[in-house]
Amino acid sequence: MKYFKKIIGDKCYLSPINLEDAEQYTEWLNDLEVSKNLAVSSQSIGLDKEKMILEDMIKRGNQIFAIIDIKTDKLIGNCSLFTIEYKHRKAEFGIFIGDKSYWGKGFGTEATELILDYGFNILNLHNILLKVYNFNNKAIRCYEKAGFHYIGKRRESIIIGGRKYDEIYMDILSNEFKSIYVKKVMERDT
Ligand SMILES: CC(C)(COP(=O)(O)OP(=O)(O)OC[C@H]1O[C@@H](n2cnc3c(N)ncnc32)[C@H](O)[C@@H]1OP(=O)(O)O)[C@@H](O)C(=O)NCCC(=O)NCCS
Repeated sequence: MKYFKKIIGDKCYLSPINLEDAEQYTEWLNDLEVSKNLAVSSQSIGLDKEKMILEDMIKRGNQIFAIIDIKTDKLIGNCSLFTIEYKHRKAEFGIFIGDKSYWGKGFGTEATELILDYGFNILNLHNILLKVYNFNNKAIRCYEKAGFHYIGKRRESIIIGGRKYDEIYMDILSNEFKSIYVKKVMERDT
């Protein structure tokens, strides 16, 4: 598979989503260790449904990128900005790294920073929001490192395995984010 270096970091880059990767995403989304952290855990997602979901997301104007290991050009997950409202310059953010051998190595933090850079410095968004389950400490830490702040929670709104969990809300404003790639490109040769 050929990937394209749209937004580039040290460990990974973001490439436009490729529908031909739907099978790999489907495999990851059926791994409960991955999907228990995502809203899709309660859905049965086969290959056709995953293709439909991706096509629908693209049609709705969501910005979805494959996350690619920069050293090996290997697909490791994807991230997106969705429910984008240009009038109010806001969007929601989501991410998953499906290849578990990449967890805890800084790829999630860098991919988050890269899509924030795209959102704030290319799309000119001002507020980006995310929702995360309160048991997902790795994700919360990753988001804090990328600059997100805790803004509230919806209590006991997630029920899995007979236990109730809170849904945490975090956001970040454009003026709280320091560009790691887009501004560097803009400053070249100027
Ligand atoms: C959440 C996710 C994107 C994070 O990406 P990642 O590459 O694994 O995370 P990073 O390595 O960039 O950062 C993780 C941080 O959490 C820390 N961490 C790991 N496990 C932790 C735990 N149980 N409690 C607290 N912190 C933890 C790591 O030490 C690291 O922080 P540090 O750099 O200060 O040491 C990725 O693990 C993933 O996709 N998981 C499955 C799907 C998912 O949860 N998606 C998010 C849904 S909201």
